[in-house]
Amino acid sequence: MAQILDGLKVSKEVKAEIKEEVERILANNRRAPHLVAILVGNNGASKAYVNSKVKDCEEVGFQSSLIKFPSTVSESELLEKIDELNKSKAVDGFIVQLPLPKQIDQEKIIMAIDPRKDVDGFHPENFGKMALEMDTFLPATPFGILTLLERYNIETKGKDCVIIGRSRIVGKPMSILMGRKDFPGNSTVTLTHSYTEKIEEYTKKADIVITALGDPNFLKGDMIKKGAVIVDVGITRVEDASEKGYHLAGDVDFDSCAEKADWITPVPGGVGPMTRAMLMKNTIIAYKTSVY
Ligand code: GUN
Repeated sequence: MAQILDGLKVSKEVKAEIKEEVERILANNRRAPHLVAILVGNNGASKAYVNSKVKDCEEVGFQSSLIKFPSTVSESELLEKIDELNKSKAVDGFIVQLPLPKQIDQEKIIMAIDPRKDVDGFHPENFGKMALEMDTFLPATPFGILTLLERYNIETKGKDCVIIGRSRIVGKPMSILMGRKDFPGNSTVTLTHSYTEKIEEYTKKADIVITALGDPNFLKGDMIKKGAVIVDVGITRVEDASEKGYHLAGDVDFDSCAEKADWITPVPGGVGPMTRAMLMKNTIIAYKTSVY
C-alpha cells in the first residue's frame, strides 16, 4: 500500500517558513512583499484560484491586490495595466490568471510582463533560464512537485519518469526540470501527450509518473509498475448531486494505483496546495531580488 505524499502538510511547512521570513522583514521596518493578481472575466475555477492566492498572501503576511477586468476587456487595456505594474516600485510580482478570453493574445500578454516580476515563471526568458539551469522563477506547479519530492527524499536520479500532458504550465516545464542536473532531477524523461500511442506501455515501465491531463481516473493500477511514485496534477470539476454541485477529481484512479505504488499524491491535498505555496515562495524571491 502506497504512502501519501502529503502536499497539504508540506505546503503548510513552506508557508510557515515564508511567514517567519516576512516577520523578520517587518521587524526591520521594511514593507511586506506585495503580489498582484489580474483576473479577467467570470470563469468559476479562475475566480476560486485567484481568491485562494489572495488568502495565501494574507496567511504569510504579504500585501496583495486583486485587479478585475470584465471578459470584454481589450488587449491594449490589459497591456496598459501590465506596464503600470511593471513600473510600480510597490509591486514585487504579479500574475495574469489564465485562461484569457479569445480576443486576447495570451502570449503577447505574457511577453509584456517584466521577467523580474513574472512570479508564475511563464515568460519565455524565464522559461529559457529554467531550461538552461540558471536561477529564475520556476512555474508554481512543477516547483511544487519538485519540492514535494525533495522533502520526502524521493530518489529521482537515474529513474524513468513519464509525464502525461505537455501544457506550458505543467507538462512541458516538468519534463525539463525532471531531466535537469540538479536535485530532484537527473531522471530519464518521457513526455507523452494526446498523440502518444499505447500510453500504458510507457507508464508500466516508469518509476515516476506525473499526470497532468485533466481526465478523471485515467491512470489505473494496471497501467503502473509496482513500487512507482505517482504524482497527480489533475483537478477536474465533476458534477454531482452534492450541495456544491461538483467535486474535484484527479487523473489517477487512487484506489487501484495506491495498491501498487510506493508513493502517491491525493486529490485534493496533494499537488494543489503545493502550487499555491510556491507562488508565495516566488513572490518572496522576487521581493528579495528586487532592484528597488
Ligand atoms: N491558470 C491555471 N493555473 C495557473 C497558474 O498557475 N497561473 C496563472 N496565471 N494562471 C493559471
